[in-house]
Amino acid sequence: MQSRARQIEFYASLDAESEIERPRHYPRPVRLLIESKFHRALRLLGHVASTDALCVCGGSGMDAEWLAHRAVRPTILDISPEALARARIRAQRHGFTATLVRGDAARLPFSDQSFNMALVHDGLHHLDDPYGALDEMARVAKHELVVMEPASAALTRLAVAVGLAADVEPAGNAVRRLNATGIRERLEARGWRHVRSARDFVYYQPWTFAIYRMADRLPVFAVFVLAYRLLNLASGRWGNSLKVVARR
Ligand SMILES: C[S@@+](CC[C@H](N)C(=O)[O-])C[C@H]1O[C@@H](n2cnc3c(N)ncnc32)[C@H](O)[C@@H]1O
Repeated sequence: MQSRARQIEFYASLDAESEIERPRHYPRPVRLLIESKFHRALRLLGHVASTDALCVCGGSGMDAEWLAHRAVRPTILDISPEALARARIRAQRHGFTATLVRGDAARLPFSDQSFNMALVHDGLHHLDDPYGALDEMARVAKHELVVMEPASAALTRLAVAVGLAADVEPAGNAVRRLNATGIRERLEARGWRHVRSARDFVYYQPWTFAIYRMADRLPVFAVFVLAYRLLNLASGRWGNSLKVVARR
């Protein structure tokens, strides 16, 4: 089966309620890990000047909801009609407005510079050519770009070797991890300046949820937060989670 068709089939099969509410029902430490990716990216950006954003591979609208609650009007692009239907319910239920567009990240159906910001969270690595899709984001965004994707990291290769990470995801795609240098080169070649990147450790596979639940409550949660911050201060630069932001 073609990779796009596999993605569509997989994302049609997910539990709708869980996707619509993600990450509300996740263990508190996992919510913190997801939030930390967004906060880290926005800290790198400095301040958000955009009042609208295209969420590429926006799925069931988690990224869009996060932006909408920070006064950024989102457009969600995804290849899965079921994901977009879930995003519509999420928006109605959680009080925000989003434009929904079915389309392929490899060929964004928008003219040049039609959004102030383009953002992707855990999407590009699903594609056969993630850097080609990055070019598309760089084309349709006018001012700001935010990329939050798995990093091509030595520790991830080790994690794959010991079975803690995979090279193929349940959606059937090879995990195409990205690196900051490759992204920087592509963006700078397309006229983007002020490219900044950071890496951190962020790990929350489904099997870890039962463990993370043990840190749901204070004071264990406070200890988790402290340990997590210290880990990333000391060694985050080798981490598996890449954020790259850019301004023109
Ligand atoms: C891991 S989910 C991430 C969703 C969302 N960004 C989030 O973090 O909740 C990956 C999403 O990429 C979408 N996707 C996969 N291939 C795509 C393509 N070629 N064009 C657009 N979306 C695609 C899938 O349908 C899915 O919704």
